[in-house]
Amino acid sequence: MTVHAELVDRFHETGFLSLGALSDATEVRWLIDVFDVLFGSGLADGSILDIAGPGDGTGARRLPQILRPENLVPELMDTGYRRRAKEWAQALLGVPDDELTWFGHMILKPACDGVETPWHQDEAYFDPRWRLRGLTVWMPLEDATVHNGCLHFAVGSHRQGVRPHRHIGGRRDIRGLEEVAPPHGRVVACPVPAGHATVHDVRTAHYAGPNRTDRPRRAYVHVFGTAAEPVTDPEPRPWLDPA
Ligand code: NI
Repeated sequence: MTVHAELVDRFHETGFLSLGALSDATEVRWLIDVFDVLFGSGLADGSILDIAGPGDGTGARRLPQILRPENLVPELMDTGYRRRAKEWAQALLGVPDDELTWFGHMILKPACDGVETPWHQDEAYFDPRWRLRGLTVWMPLEDATVHNGCLHFAVGSHRQGVRPHRHIGGRRDIRGLEEVAPPHGRVVACPVPAGHATVHDVRTAHYAGPNRTDRPRRAYVHVFGTAAEPVTDPEPRPWLDPA
């Protein structure tokens, strides 16, 4: 795969890109089966986090996620999706294969009542004592639209540092983070068909609306980064401090 220099430039300028197809229909169907087994069978019970609900697991799951699903289903390591996502990551970050760090992440936005994912920067979740350059490849398993929670990006927002965040709604018992003052610049919605993907810098502010449709919206995410380097004078990220 050749990634044209102008796309790399555009990524660095805007902080995000639409990548086109990274997975074919057969693989998407298989991923949906894997997704539904992991979220539905209890197999992953200990691995499911609800980003938007209380961390104690009480209440309906509003935005359930599984970190590192490849630990549960090792075949996920061998998908065309992961291979192509990694090629993009190498080109956009400008580092060779063996210097990339990576983890996978599945996000389910349930039918009808899947809540919004508030504005945030992925790097706000990272330990500030370490610095890396990174990006998030986001691929839905059904067509993602503004009605079921496609991503929205704040153009150029990755050029600023990590802005103040807090736990969603100011509730420390909720794991997910939100920006205290969401961005006011130009925002672009990125609807993508099933098996296509977007990529954003871990500093790009992004948002996804609620799922207002009667079908679930599944997304499989790969996060890639350069090797983390120690920061001598870390900025405070008080929202990461234990409650
Ligand atoms: Ni995010």
